[in-house]
Amino acid sequence: MTGEPALELQRIVKRFGSIRAIDGVDMRVEQGERRALLGTNGAGKTTLFNLIAGEIQATEGRMRLFGRLLGRTSVHRRARMGIARSFQSSLLFESLSVRQNLDLARSGTQGRQWRIHAPAGTAQSQRDTCRYAERVGLAAALECPAGLLSHGQRRQLEVGMALIQRPRLLLLDEPAAGLSPGDRPMLRQLIRDLPREMTVLMIEHDMDIALALADSVTVMRDGRVVAEGFPQDIRSNPVVRDIYLGAAHG
Ligand SMILES: Nc1ncnc2c1ncn2[C@@H]1O[C@H](COP(=O)(O)OP(=O)(O)OP(=O)(O)O)[C@@H](O)[C@H]1O
Ligand SMILES: [Mg+2]
Repeated sequence: MTGEPALELQRIVKRFGSIRAIDGVDMRVEQGERRALLGTNGAGKTTLFNLIAGEIQATEGRMRLFGRLLGRTSVHRRARMGIARSFQSSLLFESLSVRQNLDLARSGTQGRQWRIHAPAGTAQSQRDTCRYAERVGLAAALECPAGLLSHGQRRQLEVGMALIQRPRLLLLDEPAAGLSPGDRPMLRQLIRDLPREMTVLMIEHDMDIALALADSVTVMRDGRVVAEGFPQDIRSNPVVRDIYLGAAHG
């Protein structure tokens, strides 16, 4: 393993017409780091994930993944370089079971097209699928069509689909959103237990969850980074207090 950062963003700008959704973001995430990304609605967090994953291209700036300049590298190629993500709004195959969705996510990383009628995997990969379903609390729902899952279970499946790709850099967009209070500790433990070789960048609105899991925190507003630091410092940062408590004091 080299000492290169997992991810390095330099002066990233993304314009949508006249909107500067990302307005000159610098960020460096070390290998193995757990970084939380906080910020109000519309701050640009998901747009930043879309840029990192390669779904959209930056208007300006440079991005490096494990030291390699990304340029216009495709989503597919970035996935093979080790990026996996979960989405804020579910993107699942509704009529396919939990098991099939997990199988597709795994095969998606092996350079093949996603095949709806993929043959049943080897005994080894079947066990592996069960293990991942168990890790995200869906062992009992393995044969359930994704379309019948509760909102929280869908989020759990999405996290499982990202993990089964064994990413080097995992991007989680509000993984706890919509989870029942009972399922939140499960998710928290799951993220805590992720292997340290895996770098995790996580968008999370719930400051308590974010600060409990993260080594470091980046706070965004209006497409800019407005604060960065250790969790204990972020909680008392005046800009962050203003963003999060402003309305309450308002
Ligand atoms: N494809 C797009 N076309 C035009 N504008 C966009 C597009 N995607 C995002 N935006 C705009 O960019 C800004 C940032 O949006 P983004 O979804 O990244 O915010 P966010 O921080 O993820 O917010 P939330 O907490 O609500 O998920 C918003 O003003 C949004 O309307
Ligand atoms: Mg978002």
